[in-house]
Amino acid sequence: MASITLSNITKFYGKVQVIEKFSGVFNDHEFITLLGPSGCGKTTMLRMIAGFEKPTSGEIKINDEIVSGSGVFVPPNLRGIGMVFQSYAVWPHMNVFDNVAYPLKIQKVSRAEIKKRVENILEAVHLAPFIERMPNELSGGQQQRVALGRALVSNPSVLLLDEPLSNLDAKLREAMRFEIKEIQKNFGITVVYVTHDQTEAMAMSDRIIVFDRGVVQQVDTPMNIYKNPANEFVADFVGKINFINGTAYENFIEFQGGQKMNYNGDKRGSVVVAVRPENILINRERGILKSKILQSYYLGDINDCRVDIDGTIFRVTAPGKTYGGFSNGSEVFLDFDEYLVFQK
Ligand SMILES: Nc1ncnc2c1ncn2[C@@H]1O[C@H](COP(=O)(O)OP(=O)(O)O)[C@@H](O)[C@H]1O
Ligand SMILES: [Mg+2]
Repeated sequence: MASITLSNITKFYGKVQVIEKFSGVFNDHEFITLLGPSGCGKTTMLRMIAGFEKPTSGEIKINDEIVSGSGVFVPPNLRGIGMVFQSYAVWPHMNVFDNVAYPLKIQKVSRAEIKKRVENILEAVHLAPFIERMPNELSGGQQQRVALGRALVSNPSVLLLDEPLSNLDAKLREAMRFEIKEIQKNFGITVVYVTHDQTEAMAMSDRIIVFDRGVVQQVDTPMNIYKNPANEFVADFVGKINFINGTAYENFIEFQGGQKMNYNGDKRGSVVVAVRPENILINRERGILKSKILQSYYLGDINDCRVDIDGTIFRVTAPGKTYGGFSNGSEVFLDFDEYLVFQK
């Protein structure tokens, strides 16, 4: 059982502000992902929750206990957390059993109890057959499972994961997503997961927190982040999207280049219209926006097209079943099925 409450957390390194006032509650059993480009402050946030780093100001509570702030600082080993880092960080001179047993040895748990708990954990992370292997006899994915096992063996109520899959190849990364979700469910723990990979965040999270340069841009479910991004940054960072500049009037938007589209929203003046590639319909005879196919690749399930709208290039994915192929240079018309309008 663990919730994490962060209140007005800021972090400076010298004069440089890395986290700008963050407040939020991560619920018991929730899978929360901190998502953002490299350098935006994700690891710093995680290390502050873990207790490896002190916030410059603000308060962190795990359940009702203040672990950081108001003159209190609880060290990492007393916070009831497990943490896995991006690099495997397993001890090369210890076999799998000893690596996973290490935290329990430090806690002076009895030999018999250690054996029981390590064996249980190795079952859970699918490493039981490898109990006596040395790390150099394991694949990258297996080494990361050792790290995961070691983080879980003390029965933490919070698991912090810092880009744990980014050193693995694509196929293994996808398989491990399911395993981590399964572990979260079976152990009933709260997970704070850090990644710069939006697909990973979408696949695993109950809620995603999108960061840009230390500033939270949006906190929401994966579906809301995708469908209703709070701003241009989120729209661009999560999923593929096209942008075209224009001017909004009472009943229409005039795009740069002079073409117009009906519009009933409340934005006026300089705007940017954002459209995901799958939300664009292509028509060969008529439609709202005249444009030209620059390149089109027939990939079977979709046509992957680059189209030119008066100088703005759009990516369009048109179902292969519906359209067959397109010839390069041909004139087509676009309709937007769903789109977003952001004020400039
Ligand atoms: N110990 C440190 N001292 C000074 N600057 C740091 C330190 N750790 C991180 N930073 C800076 O803080 C910013 C955020 O870093 P980090 O939290 O590692 O980002 P992320 O994990 O999102 O890539 C970066 O600009 C980084 O250079
Ligand atoms: Mg990082």
